[in-house]
Amino acid sequence: MIPARPVLVTGAGGLLGSALVRTGQVRGLRREELDITDRDAVARVLDTLRPAAVINAAAQARVDLAEVERAWTEAVNHHAVAALAEACRRRGIRLVHIGTDYSLRSDRDLTPDMPPDPRGHYAETKSRGERAALARGALVVRVQWVYHPGHPGFFTRSLQALRRGETVRLVTDQVGVPTPAALLAPALVIAARGEATGMVHLACQGHTTPWGWIEAAAASLGLPFSAEPITRADLGGAPRPARSVLNSDSFAAAFGLRLPHWKVALGEVLATAGAPAGEAGPATAPHR
Ligand SMILES: NC(=O)c1ccc[n+]([C@@H]2O[C@H](COP(=O)([O-])OP(=O)(O)OC[C@H]3O[C@@H](n4cnc5c(N)ncnc54)[C@H](OP(=O)(O)O)[C@@H]3O)[C@@H](O)[C@H]2O)c1
Repeated sequence: MIPARPVLVTGAGGLLGSALVRTGQVRGLRREELDITDRDAVARVLDTLRPAAVINAAAQARVDLAEVERAWTEAVNHHAVAALAEACRRRGIRLVHIGTDYSLRSDRDLTPDMPPDPRGHYAETKSRGERAALARGALVVRVQWVYHPGHPGFFTRSLQALRRGETVRLVTDQVGVPTPAALLAPALVIAARGEATGMVHLACQGHTTPWGWIEAAAASLGLPFSAEPITRADLGGAPRPARSVLNSDSFAAAFGLRLPHWKVALGEVLATAGAPAGEAGPATAPHR
């Protein structure tokens, strides 16, 4: 029997990339193994491994750093995506590119037909990358507020601080949908093995604030919840949407799959992964 051609994942050392690798259904390449800005290396890998599909989870995803490292962010989030999409198109390889809710801005739930309205360099470069991938026949899956217990980031830092008995400062005026990487990953593998192209959105159901998110996680773990409410403006940094709620009907229509409510998903991943044993540091900014 001829073995099925693999699904390749770029950025396999990252939050989403490592969750994809943990599905056991993909071949992951970390940045050290494949730098997506190196076009020759990309061509070599595609010609050697001959994947059925590529999931591009590589990005310069640090929102505040993007304002400083502007050229690098543009190179990774836009130019490399365009070149990767072109290389895949020429070889008949399916590309699933990961987009972001930050490309849009609306008080209503976000649907793929809304015109892009990115603010800040991270969002602008990601939006250009999304459009470049779409123009070359890719599937773009926008995701948001991704987390994994134990992976460095806002979620892990907050719970570690609560565990140490500290008071955390939590934003109360930013609304989004926390979505575990462990639930996104198998859905993305299904999308990679599917056929639909174009733009789709994938997140959990419902919505909350960073305050509501961490309060629910603490309750689920039986941790004392000691928090001080702050506003997003108190944190400064690059602009973030005040309300960003992906409507995932498009993913359900394309692939017949819907993620659970964010609170149900939170309970599931905490029960599976346990309490995060991550890094110390200030626990204030929602993800990234
Ligand atoms: N996390 C979220 O809440 C969120 C929300 C919306 C959308 N997204 C999107 O989801 C995707 C995955 O994000 P993430 O949260 O998993 O970010 P992440 O943890 O920062 O992972 C990104 C990975 O890409 C790698 N990378 C950077 N430049 C590269 C290059 N030139 N070639 C190959 N790999 C490179 C990074 O390596 P280094 O660490 O060595 O730089 C890192 O391992 C991104 O497209 C992001 O925009 C994430």
